Amino acid sequence: MIDTAITTITAWEGLDSRGKPTVGCEVQLSGGGRGHAYVPSGASTGRHEARELRDGDSRYDGQGVQQAAINARTVLAEAVHGLDALDGKTVDEALRAADGTPDLGRLGANAVLAVSVAAALAAADAQRVPLYQSVAAGADPLLPLPMVNIISGGAHAGRSIDVQDFLAVPVGAGTFSEAIDYTARVRRGTAEVLREMGHAIALVADEGGLGPVLPTNRAALDMVVAGIERAGLRPGTDVGIAVDVAATQFLSSDGRYVLAAEGDRRLNAEGLIDELVQWCAHYPIVSIEDALGEDDWEGWVEATARLGDRQLLGDDFFVTDAERLGRGIKVRAANAVLVKPNQTGTLSDALAVIRLAQENGYRTVLSARSGETEDSWLADLALGWRTGQIKVGSTMRSERTAKWNRLLQIESQLGGTVEYAGASALSCPTIDGVPA
Ligand code: PGA
Ligand code: ZN
Repeated sequence: MIDTAITTITAWEGLDSRGKPTVGCEVQLSGGGRGHAYVPSGASTGRHEARELRDGDSRYDGQGVQQAAINARTVLAEAVHGLDALDGKTVDEALRAADGTPDLGRLGANAVLAVSVAAALAAADAQRVPLYQSVAAGADPLLPLPMVNIISGGAHAGRSIDVQDFLAVPVGAGTFSEAIDYTARVRRGTAEVLREMGHAIALVADEGGLGPVLPTNRAALDMVVAGIERAGLRPGTDVGIAVDVAATQFLSSDGRYVLAAEGDRRLNAEGLIDELVQWCAHYPIVSIEDALGEDDWEGWVEATARLGDRQLLGDDFFVTDAERLGRGIKVRAANAVLVKPNQTGTLSDALAVIRLAQENGYRTVLSARSGETEDSWLADLALGWRTGQIKVGSTMRSERTAKWNRLLQIESQLGGTVEYAGASALSCPTIDGVPA
């Protein structure tokens, strides 16, 4: 038997950063290689995402994942037993076939992803190389431009404001560590400004960002600009702003976008795009995520025509799904894709989406979830897959810093030999000359 055949899989129920159960899994190989992983979980999940399996009984208010863990160590373990962990694609195909449903809802996308990631880590361990190297398939690693959460609203902060995320993008930083310094300073600067205005800043939102109750969504943009200035940095030149509108979250059944924080202001798609155009005219916004609802294809095409000179990022819109991304490329909706491995269920499927995007001039941002764990495999994937950008929340809370720290470690260990994507990750062939 080869040294890298999958022999033993254990799986258990652990906790994520919101105190909700999540699946942990360890994969062992014939030659002794091992890998273990926890999977993350979202709060503002898209309708088209792969489906987690939750127990639905009295434990953890129905959120338990004991059955998912059982599925990982029985049916899924059997499906991949004896397969070569170095061949991740075959392992992932076997996992998908064992479930047999398009959304992996039978055995649970949480069970499937846990095995997929743990097998990839075991493969790296068996080769005695870090995960980023084993997933890179010979390509040079690329340190990503970070997108860092400063102010949260929506589902991550008790809906204090409608828009879900206001983030700092350190476009002027020359290295990854400088980028993290810039954004940590903006996080502190924004907290200082808010505290002086009388806002409570001790409690943080789900991703470690601030969750102030503000009179309008625009006020959050003012606060981030003030925070950048307080940090001694220049808005737009040193640090740009990214916004995750997460518009599906405030789309009502009559097709109107309802801004509850602004006295239930009701907008149609065009009105919401007008609002975003205004924001872009007044603030240094470099990226807009989920500008419109997850199924508002017409609105997305319109938004791309009007706002496509900056990054327009599909999260709930593309849900890390190659078919949806392919349709977006065809109709020119958005120009970037947010990639969350647990939206699709396996690492191979996430990688396929990244490659499809890159081949068509769409930018790629690898992303954590609002419910995370202490694992740092996401950082290695960003580096090895050369996604160019990464989004994992704030510069505080350990489930967030685990990812930043992993990238800081690699930058330090590889010294000047590793390339840093920087602001060039935001430039895009579809808008910078070469048509898709
Ligand atoms: P989620 O949020 O993990 O709660 O879905 C993250 C995002 O929308 O980017
Ligand atoms: Zn999002």
